[in-house]
Amino acid sequence: MGKRLAIISDIHANLEAFEETLKHIASQGADEIICLGDIVGYNANPAECVALCRERQIYCLMGNHDGAVCGKVSLSEFNETAATAIKWTRTQLTREDLLFLNALPRFHQEDEKFILMHGSLIKPDRYLFFQQDAEKDFEKMAKEYPNISVGFFGHTHQRRIFTYYLDTVTSGVPDHFTLEPGRRYLINPGSVGQPRDNSPMASYMIYDEDRRHVDFHHVMYAVKRAADKVIKAGLPKSLAERLFRGW
Ligand SMILES: [Fe+2]
Repeated sequence: MGKRLAIISDIHANLEAFEETLKHIASQGADEIICLGDIVGYNANPAECVALCRERQIYCLMGNHDGAVCGKVSLSEFNETAATAIKWTRTQLTREDLLFLNALPRFHQEDEKFILMHGSLIKPDRYLFFQQDAEKDFEKMAKEYPNISVGFFGHTHQRRIFTYYLDTVTSGVPDHFTLEPGRRYLINPGSVGQPRDNSPMASYMIYDEDRRHVDFHHVMYAVKRAADKVIKAGLPKSLAERLFRGW
């Protein structure tokens, strides 16, 4: 029997959003929680978010911010605001936290069922915003994982379903979606802790393996409390402001 998977991504040290999302997941029922990377970065509670991932036994990938915090991804890859937050994050984590982040995989294949990546199959930190970006990933997927028709990715902080059918990629942002046979899919659950969907709400998805069905969820949380913590921590003000706009 297949599982009901809760798939989350880009928590980005936003404890208020993360806790509220976990409560919502509990109300929906899920056999397992998967995080597609970026537990830390940008917001004010990196240690607490790492602790929650470990405590709840969430299967986590390494995102580019997680990698940068433990020195695996160069800071030159980031804009000044993000780099400032990464340097601050390093001061907030214990050696054990860093070892945990450092050991996270950048990619995962679940049997013949699905693949997980932070950004893209071509390069872990490449962004899949548009159909033409996804095209190359679908080609690689067909070549290297011919029996797998579903991939989950994060990194853009925007929920999205790309569909590959008859050599054409289409893109959509439905609330509910049933996967059809003979097609390939790349699916992004959106971001828990720094959504960029023009809505301040946390975003995640439930994937029901048996029904091959996806339900996206938006979860309201105490945005002001999270934003106030960003300011109090001395992190760039713009990181607090963007939480209210969802961008
Ligand atoms: Fe991210």
